Amino acid sequence: MTEAWRPDDDGQRRGASGPVRVRVPAKVNLHLGVGPLRRDGYHELNTVYHAISIHDELTARRGDTLALTMEGEGAGELALDDTNLVIRAAHALAGYAGVLPHARLHLRKQIPLAGGLAGGSADAAAALVACDALWGTGLSRDELAGIAADLGSDVPFLIHGGTALGTGRGEAVSPVLARPTSWHWVVAIADGGLSTPAAYRELDRLREAGTAGPPLGSTDALLAALRQRDPRVLAAALGNDLQDAALAMRPALAETLKAGEAAGALAGLVSGSGPTCVFLAGDEKHAVRLAADLTAAAVCREVRVAHGPVAGARIV
Ligand code: C5P
Repeated sequence: MTEAWRPDDDGQRRGASGPVRVRVPAKVNLHLGVGPLRRDGYHELNTVYHAISIHDELTARRGDTLALTMEGEGAGELALDDTNLVIRAAHALAGYAGVLPHARLHLRKQIPLAGGLAGGSADAAAALVACDALWGTGLSRDELAGIAADLGSDVPFLIHGGTALGTGRGEAVSPVLARPTSWHWVVAIADGGLSTPAAYRELDRLREAGTAGPPLGSTDALLAALRQRDPRVLAAALGNDLQDAALAMRPALAETLKAGEAAGALAGLVSGSGPTCVFLAGDEKHAVRLAADLTAAAVCREVRVAHGPVAGARIV
């Protein structure tokens, strides 16, 4: 809960005196078209991002230094030092705004680490929104998205949320104006993560060897499917160029996808660079049934239901 605003010590900026709590969603890519490798080491993307209702929560309080603690997914595994995207985001914002990067940050994670759901990027987006309010730096969403782009290709989208087109290396985001429809998903979380750079390298290798599927290319069919509000139509349009790479690196994911299909999912695909798999359901009830069947099939660590689109990083 954000408490009353008060002038800062220097009397110029106004920040939050009480804790600032920010919720940030996970993302899936409804379409992930990977183009050629660029000279800067990134791939040109044509992607449709979609924010789903699995959330991390970051609480920021005033402090005399910058410190991060955490609980939940990845606690004890994730480094909480300067390499952590939350800390990097706080430093980036403080540098941009010319303030001291002082805050006590606490992260409650539900988004798995290295899962292909952009958990680290989500936390960076949450840190930007939380520290902006805590420090009273008052940046616009577009300014925050500019800082976000330097932190990671997915971070600007997680500031915006919803469903959005991503181009460039993924950092150039424009919202998809679809009629309000909720899509229902079942999310199969695997044991352990997959490295995103390794997945892109594997795709390059498969393409060089001529064993990758044809590139997805344009997002037109997916965007047209979103406008129709029919989950069967959306199911037919979903696609991910990184899926072959994820399957090559983690062959067991084929079993997860098969199990989802056998349980009656309208479609299943690897999320981002994996190893999380997501399945589209016809409606909420179908998603709950599907989740139960997938749990019984014991093909992953954990099964969750989710819906989307949801908002990006927001103060709650
Ligand atoms: O932007 P981000 O730091 O999340 O990217 C992580 C890694 O994923 C990059 O260093 C790069 O190896 C790979 N990547 C890529 N093309 C993109 C986005 C990410 O090759 N468009």
